[in-house]
Amino acid sequence: MHTGQTGRVLRVGIVGIGGAAVNMLPAFDRNPLYKITAAADLDADILARFKADYGAETFTSVEAIAQSPNVDLLYIATPTTLHAAHVRAALNGGKHVLIEKPMAVSLEDADVMIADAARNRVLLGVNVKHSFEPRVQALRDFVIRGEFGRLRMINSWRYVDWLYKPRSREELTPGWGSGLLWRQGPHQLDIVRTIAGGMIRSMRGTCQILDAARHVPGAYSAFIDFENDVSCTVVCSGYDHFDSRAFVSGFDGKAPLAAPDRYGRARRELNANKYDPDWEDRAAAGERYGGGREGMEAPPGAGASGGVSSGWLLGGPLIASFERADVRLSRGGLVVDGDDGQREIAVPSDIDGRDGRLNSFYSAVVDGTPLPADGRWGKATQEALVALEQSSERRAEVTLRYQTPTVDVTKADSVARLKRAAAR
Ligand SMILES: NC(=O)c1ccc[n+]([C@@H]2O[C@H](COP(=O)([O-])OP(=O)(O)OC[C@H]3O[C@@H](n4cnc5c(N)ncnc54)[C@H](O)[C@@H]3O)[C@@H](O)[C@H]2O)c1
Repeated sequence: MHTGQTGRVLRVGIVGIGGAAVNMLPAFDRNPLYKITAAADLDADILARFKADYGAETFTSVEAIAQSPNVDLLYIATPTTLHAAHVRAALNGGKHVLIEKPMAVSLEDADVMIADAARNRVLLGVNVKHSFEPRVQALRDFVIRGEFGRLRMINSWRYVDWLYKPRSREELTPGWGSGLLWRQGPHQLDIVRTIAGGMIRSMRGTCQILDAARHVPGAYSAFIDFENDVSCTVVCSGYDHFDSRAFVSGFDGKAPLAAPDRYGRARRELNANKYDPDWEDRAAAGERYGGGREGMEAPPGAGASGGVSSGWLLGGPLIASFERADVRLSRGGLVVDGDDGQREIAVPSDIDGRDGRLNSFYSAVVDGTPLPADGRWGKATQEALVALEQSSERRAEVTLRYQTPTVDVTKADSVARLKRAAAR
């Protein structure tokens, strides 16, 4: 397997230094197993800022960066409709690839990526970072160890402001790759698959447009039947009304309403700018590297639990029901409402899902351990997105065919590896 000339430190090229990359850069920066050596983007200003900050080689095409001898792995965060071509160029250049979610807009594109990775003997991973969150991994550990009996049910609800944040034209253009389902569904569906074991038998779902001015579906809900008989509901709404973080913070009755300056903030900003597509395009671009709006995506309070990634996870309640306990997300970790009473289990607050994603990728490249969330897994999550959309159109249950089981990476492994590496 190709592990790069330096052996232990993986040299990373960033392709597309937009909003997604801005959120990943700190995870690369703080990880001693990785070093950013190159970047590619079409925007000359972004490239110049990046070159000055990182001293990295810069390129204006993925084809060029894929030929660089100074790169082992390309992290690709370009617009979704370009993923197929960009992943293909990277894999055929002999680079390992970490592709942003959703990995592609069709199952056929995913198949090509998987075949290209195998043919070039390099690894393809999908950046479903929230599935690597310590809370998600701890829930998965409970399933594996049977601590509370068998897992029987998962219910995950999210009411967020996604649709009224400045969105790129791609995100607001109806079609695969746009709308709330294709942007937030890859995380939510990936998380419940990770916990339940991965194998969805069938789904029934709906996608909804509540505000025609935003063009694309801004809400979805689905019932999921797993092969191991776990039942699951996923609900997500991006209309900036109810904020479901309230259901994670607690039911102490002290703050039933959001602070007035926070309530409906994304919708108010869009309204104040009269839904002007040019303003919105500029604001969305402002969330790219050095654009001045970076960090606006970070949910308030995220830092209290260790970073932006865990902030996403705490955006709404997720309750896993075992035979002897309901286990739910909390600010401090996980709350267990069990046969023998209630308790809160603390989770590490100094590591987030991005760290787990990067550490497991490093182990797979350097030590040959199985890669969690690889191309086949990503295709299976994508199949679930397609199934939900088809189910909504047909008003019918859809049976899935390409599901793959969870490849388990324990939180302990990745934390231990990070500490070992830091001590070297
Ligand atoms: N915004 C987020 O927080 C976020 C989070 C997770 C995943 N994602 C995913 O990441 C991907 C990118 O989303 P984004 O929001 O960062 O988009 P974005 O529009 O903010 O950034 C895309 C970047 O890619 C560059 N680019 C466009 N075409 C290119 C090309 N041909 N070659 C090189 N660079 C090119 C653009 O100049 C821009 O800097 C999408 O698939 C999205 O689903 C986004």
